[in-house]
Amino acid sequence: MIVLDGISDLRTVVREWRGDGCSIAFVPTMGNLHAGHLALVEQAGSLGDRVVASIFVNPLQFGPGEDFVTYPRTLDADRAALEKLETDLLFIPDVQGMYPDAIDSTTRVDVPALDNILCGAHRPGFFTGVATVVAKLFNMVQPDTAVFGEKDYQQLLVIRQMVKDLSWPIEVAGVPTVREPDGLAMSSRNGYLTPRERSKAPELYRILCDVAGKIQAGESGYPALESKAMESLSQAGFRPDYVSIRCATTLAQPEPGEPDLVILAAAWMGTARLIDNVRISAS
Ligand code: PAF
Repeated sequence: MIVLDGISDLRTVVREWRGDGCSIAFVPTMGNLHAGHLALVEQAGSLGDRVVASIFVNPLQFGPGEDFVTYPRTLDADRAALEKLETDLLFIPDVQGMYPDAIDSTTRVDVPALDNILCGAHRPGFFTGVATVVAKLFNMVQPDTAVFGEKDYQQLLVIRQMVKDLSWPIEVAGVPTVREPDGLAMSSRNGYLTPRERSKAPELYRILCDVAGKIQAGESGYPALESKAMESLSQAGFRPDYVSIRCATTLAQPEPGEPDLVILAAAWMGTARLIDNVRISAS
């Protein structure tokens, strides 16, 4: 595996691969890799001739008082895991390389169709930070395909919208959420949970599955289902930010009878903000 931290070295390798006719699949990450990330890398291996992964904890997507400083950084273990999966190139830029001028005044990418709702409403500027860094990484790596997890469902749609709006010739692939045996979606932030909080955390997925079951059984009073799920989360020890039933492709509020839905939630358990979603499709 080639490991590079410089943008011009990265461009040189990618240019050579392209010259050889190879396609490139790209997995951007913030590191602290778990089985969910590794599933993205495996998927990338089936989608491109060369697989590039990046690790960069992006300061632009963390708000004041959020966990940028404490976000887990485990580069040696991440590198070993990527090596095992035969990743071709790991790109590990630093903050100075990614944002050479003042970060507060850097050029930004907004995706207004999607970035102020749900998680965007609770974490102002978060999706602008994500879209900006992913846009920069796309310009550096120039992938044919980029792979993201469906656990970060709104993020996946924001990236798809950005790629469409900016006319990039990049296929954005989504990979299903990888879960612990008790249902908890894998996340780097699960590491913030105490053993007691960890034992309660799978309730988030269980409550979302319960809402999905009710919708599949014919219930269509979405606001009542959302309020009831918020109550259940509070009773289970969470501080919920939201539970919302949305159209799966646009995140718009659904009309009754909409066949393709996603139930999304974000909730705090101790110091960990957990997100999860369950999709309901007609097919
Ligand atoms: O999902 C993540 O880990 C990050 O938001 C991403 C896409 C790597 C951008 O920093």
